[in-house]
Amino acid sequence: MDKVQYLDWNNSTEILNKAYEAGLFVLIIGPKGTGKTSLVRDFAKNKNLNLESVNFSLRTRESHLIGTKTLTDGNVSFDEGILIKSMREGEMLYLDEINSAEADVLLRLDEALDDRRQIALKESTGEVIKAKENWFVVSTINPLTHSGTKELPPQLLSRFPVRIRLEYPPENIELEIVKKHVSEIYESDIIQAIKLANTLRQAAAVEELFYSPSLRETIAFGKLLEKGVTAKDAANYVFGNVYTQWGNIEYQKVSDIITSMFGN
Ligand SMILES: Nc1ncnc2c1ncn2[C@@H]1O[C@H](COP(=O)(O)OP(=O)(O)O)[C@@H](O)[C@H]1O
Ligand SMILES: [Mg+2]
Repeated sequence: MDKVQYLDWNNSTEILNKAYEAGLFVLIIGPKGTGKTSLVRDFAKNKNLNLESVNFSLRTRESHLIGTKTLTDGNVSFDEGILIKSMREGEMLYLDEINSAEADVLLRLDEALDDRRQIALKESTGEVIKAKENWFVVSTINPLTHSGTKELPPQLLSRFPVRIRLEYPPENIELEIVKKHVSEIYESDIIQAIKLANTLRQAAAVEELFYSPSLRETIAFGKLLEKGVTAKDAANYVFGNVYTQWGNIEYQKVSDIITSMFGN
């Protein structure tokens, strides 16, 4: 990730701070590309917290979190996973897209996250690992409309009693964010691109389109302009062409919007 400073436009840092001080775990919910990961990294950096992260997918195994037995020179040892490491020594654990994990993995997490904040290493010596006192866990979930996401079991949800919503920002704020990533001389084109992105987001929200562009796209658009690509071309490469995945009719709908906004 680049070293761009995070713009805390909805005061999420303040509530993260309060939750941290109160020893409450936090869930951040919002669509992809709305700055969830950036927010967490920025918070950890500013507080100087040692951050361990897991990016969950269907392929994330228990062993990833807990650890695996390894054999070296005839000796069996246990290679501790990220969860165990973070409980022992890490101060902050980031569980990204936790609702794409399989149920058995979530069950194991639940054991560590309950009020005792401890877990039995049944795959090794049976030792009970107790988390450091200031252990802080933040997780993110995508709304259920995202493919591959499942509903988080209520008991696991309840381990994260502080919930932060992160949506697409208002247009003027999105412009400020994009300007943090690219030079501002392209302001009027970027404003148009943000309008386009919001039109597509609204169409996706009512299921008129299959895909909703994020801040990643509006930033990428600005970066292409910086490299000398015209606004119209950049709009096609970043916003338009992806819809071909759902066929020509879907693509044509978006292509027409792009033409009306950026000319022929
Ligand atoms: N508030 C913000 N300030 C600065 N950059 C941001 C902000 N929100 C999003 N971004 C940028 O948008 C992109 C997507 O953000 P990311 O944190 O990866 O989103 P998510 O984790 O929600 O998918 C990144 O390049 C990030 O730097
Ligand atoms: Mg992320």
